Amino acid sequence: MTSFSNEVDIRRFSKDDYRTHLKEVVELDECFFERPWKLENWETFCSSREFYIYCLYDESKIMGFSLFEIINEGEAVHLHKILLHPVMRGLGKGYRLFEHARNDLAAMGHCGCYLEVATDNKGAIALYEKCGLEVVRRVARFYGNGDDAFIMMNYS
Ligand SMILES: CC(C)(COP(=O)(O)OP(=O)(O)OC[C@H]1O[C@@H](n2cnc3c(N)ncnc32)[C@H](O)[C@@H]1OP(=O)(O)O)[C@@H](O)C(=O)NCCC(=O)NCCS
Repeated sequence: MTSFSNEVDIRRFSKDDYRTHLKEVVELDECFFERPWKLENWETFCSSREFYIYCLYDESKIMGFSLFEIINEGEAVHLHKILLHPVMRGLGKGYRLFEHARNDLAAMGHCGCYLEVATDNKGAIALYEKCGLEVVRRVARFYGNGDDAFIMMNYS
């Protein structure tokens, strides 16, 4: 685990040390994510992929997280999820969480970033654009409910 001591408390967990924090992350996902994963999805993902989870803390409570899978033989990451508790939104913390994770991942050599986002998720799209990602493609009916997704990525 790495703890960052700047104005927001963000900690990184990996395959080695995520387990003690997974319950809180799964609860946040279930309560506030539009398309939450079931516990078995989390277990399957965490046991079969290489990943990092960055958690944003308020006091000792996890109030946000982002989940990145390492892809392309370590050259890039796939952002699967980023979520802030609703009371924490609109304060610049999602931006800090995403940028912090991206900088940390880039320092480890994982420079590229790839993600899918629902085409109607204006807030998340604006966040990603602010962080330098671009829409490269639209995928029709990407989600189970028939919603389309944008593929976004950076080129660094
Ligand atoms: C997406 C999310 C993580 C953004 O976190 P946040 O802390 O609210 O975002 P920030 O306050 O850091 O905003 C950063 C930038 O994103 C954009 N943004 C964020 N929310 C926005 C909204 N509702 N409408 C328009 N732009 C928005 C703005 O460009 C903002 O920059 P600015 O403050 O300079 O204008 C948060 O809204 C969330 O948890 N949403 C639910 C989960 C989700 O949809 N995740 C993404 C799909 S994986």
